[in-house]
Amino acid sequence: MTSPGLSSRVTCVVGLQWGDEAKGKVVDLLSQEHDVVVRFNGGANAGHTVVWNGHTFKFSLLPTGLLHPHVVGVIGNGVVVSPPQLLKEIEALQQVGIEVRGRLLVSDRAHVVFPYHQEEDRLREQGTTQPIGTTGRGIGPCYQDKVGRNYAIRVGELLDEAHLERRLREILPHKSRWLATFSSRAECGSANPSRADTPQMGSSGELSSDKAVRELASTYAAYGRKLQPWIGDTVRFLHQAYQQGKRLLFETAQGCLLDVDHGTYPFVTSSNSSTTGLWSGSGFPARYLERVVGVVKAYTTRVGAGPFPTELDNHLGDYIRRRGKEYGTVTGRPRRCGWFDAVAVRYTAQISAADELAVMLLDVLSGLDELAICVAYEVNGELFAEFPSDPEILLRCRPVYERLPGWKQELGQVQRWADLPKEARHYLDRLSELVGLPIGCVSVGPAREQTIFLT
Ligand code: GDP
Ligand code: IMO
Ligand code: MG
Repeated sequence: MTSPGLSSRVTCVVGLQWGDEAKGKVVDLLSQEHDVVVRFNGGANAGHTVVWNGHTFKFSLLPTGLLHPHVVGVIGNGVVVSPPQLLKEIEALQQVGIEVRGRLLVSDRAHVVFPYHQEEDRLREQGTTQPIGTTGRGIGPCYQDKVGRNYAIRVGELLDEAHLERRLREILPHKSRWLATFSSRAECGSANPSRADTPQMGSSGELSSDKAVRELASTYAAYGRKLQPWIGDTVRFLHQAYQQGKRLLFETAQGCLLDVDHGTYPFVTSSNSSTTGLWSGSGFPARYLERVVGVVKAYTTRVGAGPFPTELDNHLGDYIRRRGKEYGTVTGRPRRCGWFDAVAVRYTAQISAADELAVMLLDVLSGLDELAICVAYEVNGELFAEFPSDPEILLRCRPVYERLPGWKQELGQVQRWADLPKEARHYLDRLSELVGLPIGCVSVGPAREQTIFLT
């Protein structure tokens, strides 16, 4: 990664693992050299952290770049928006003196997450023998309604209360029936306890009563009025900004291995969380992209269920979790931890067209005698160097490791490549070689200054 000052005009930051690769920090660093920062997928399932001037900021819906006063943030059509969450984040920024007025545009085509989506998310997870381990934010059910078309509501529709009430009057009886069905399924034999981080709704019958319809319409229309100054046509805005020579930065949520098409399906999120989602989720052609920064941790983490060949379900995994503070930004769940998987990252770098790697949290690995990188998979005695498309095969994959010496030195203060221990340099060189991409930057701590730029 080039140090701030040497920029490309259109850049995308994308996670090459299962999310939480520290994309927030990279977007923050690159925001210095961009004018517009764009979210195009996911919703409040994302949790992007930036540590700045001793403050920790957590962004779920707002583009991370808004911390920079010159940046305009865009929430594209591909995002699913929870209005109360968005307003909460805007308020949190304003409380620390960061003005969002005039610096944010939310697509009128983005879809709205309602409380019944969160309820459906919760009940679906409870009612299945194979829960995904979602964030409980209603993301999947909202995208389902979007694609299903009949029962979806877009952000632009919040601006007309009479229309919104008519739409909800049509939708809520259906939702009410579905929730009743899911609810009885969830009661029959679920092993999943109700999750404390998901709001509970009243009984599904109450949901479609005349009073409930009016109340929901009035609450969401009020959100619409508050958000009105920011709602508009983001597609037109992005094209105009590009034509005016503005520099655009796309901030992908989640990671490629959670992509609904290219990830470890069905243990994925419900959007295209690789660069493949950029074009559809923003209306800005991906062929204008000049640079794709693929973000990886120096190891691997995953939250929720699904295959994870290099998982360390032992004291080493605990060591990484403790040093990396590996607990979910959104739900607080402990993240599963494991070694770096070069087979998976080679695959995700390819589908994302990554030009370079940003290797994050290297400092976490200090103190280990030996490190390992997965260089191939073994299934029934056969070796594979490619990431399998069949999740059943992935489940049976055993990692083949290359072992490398570790280092003892703490890295938090290291500013230059040459000052890294030689074992750390060797580890990074090997990782870059195995993935087939140069390393643009190495991160040795959460703060902006704890970054080593290599180009
Ligand atoms: P994102 O979703 O990809 O933006 O990542 P998260 O914010 O969910 O998780 C990354 C976590 O790692 C955050 O708590 C960051 O503050 C922290 N972090 C970022 N870079 C580093 C680093 O180099 N070292 C350490 N120890 N922590 C880091
Ligand atoms: P950021 O942007 C890590 C995971 C959930 C679950 C699966 C589906 O911070 O990297 P969902 O609620 O999307 O239906 O859950 O996806 N997941 C994430 N894991 N980082 C994220 O976002 C995630 N967003 C969703 O844990 O396994
Ligand atoms: Mg995160």
